[in-house]
Amino acid sequence: MKNECAIFLQWALPQMKMRWSGFRKVHKQVCKRIRHRMNTLNLPNFGEYQSWLANHPKEWDVLDSMCRITISRFYRDWAVFDFLMDNLLHRLAMKAKYENRPFRCWSAGCASGEEPYTLALIWHFVLRKKFPALDFQIIATDIDERLLERAKKGCYPKGSLKGLPKPWLDKAFSVNEIGYCIHSSFSKSIKWIKQDIRISFPSGMFDLLLCRNLVATYFEPSLQRAIFNQMKAVLRPGGFLVLGRHEKLPDEIEGFSSKLEKLNIYEMSANHIFFNAP
Ligand SMILES: C[S@@+](CC[C@H](N)C(=O)[O-])C[C@H]1O[C@@H](n2cnc3c(N)ncnc32)[C@H](O)[C@@H]1O
Repeated sequence: MKNECAIFLQWALPQMKMRWSGFRKVHKQVCKRIRHRMNTLNLPNFGEYQSWLANHPKEWDVLDSMCRITISRFYRDWAVFDFLMDNLLHRLAMKAKYENRPFRCWSAGCASGEEPYTLALIWHFVLRKKFPALDFQIIATDIDERLLERAKKGCYPKGSLKGLPKPWLDKAFSVNEIGYCIHSSFSKSIKWIKQDIRISFPSGMFDLLLCRNLVATYFEPSLQRAIFNQMKAVLRPGGFLVLGRHEKLPDEIEGFSSKLEKLNIYEMSANHIFFNAP
């Protein structure tokens, strides 16, 4: 039965423009959902589920929604956030201030808010005092409505907050029966949007785009190329794209002038001209 699900996914994922290699280590949670679905439909094995998909094309949307990995945590990959805090955010904020405009970040695939809230915490505790008049905005998008609702509530189990400095935890969260809840003031700079990154992007231009542990892990190369090429059109010249620690841009993507090795942070070249804004 175990192998059956892996074999099924290797057949089904490419048909949804996803890749098995991204799911290999985490497929068990997807298989659990699919088995639950098969039970609900009274289908005894994966062969029957394949036939069901063939006869019910809308089932592909259900399968797509079961193939989402929602793991995240605050300050995930600390070296990346340390670098943002000590270096990039300051540099980008200076530029936005000089150009007399808001400083805009996009967290794409924001899960339950761990990533955008981490940015908001860094801004609040480290940078805000240096740029008191700067309008700092975070757009946080995810395809999953339930995750966004959880993000808006802002309550987390202790385990997902392990990466945060203790003084921040003490000052920014209160503990109650649900868990550790972030003070509502931290969501003031965040706008939550339900969006499928394969179909649409938030409007406007961004200084910083975090697209971690989503596109470059789970989507097949042709879809990755299409999305990253469109992302170039919403990144300001001199802006940065941050990928996950185990991700990289497909080789064919041009327009980034440099890459900060190891951290997988790419700088948008200052003189790139785009004709393909989505
Ligand atoms: C593994 S989590 C990554 C969370 C966070 N970026 C991080 O690195 O910790 C991937 C997130 O992408 C979201 N996602 C999956 N497919 C998506 C799509 N097509 N459009 C937007 N978000 C999607 C999932 O719901 C999930 O919250």
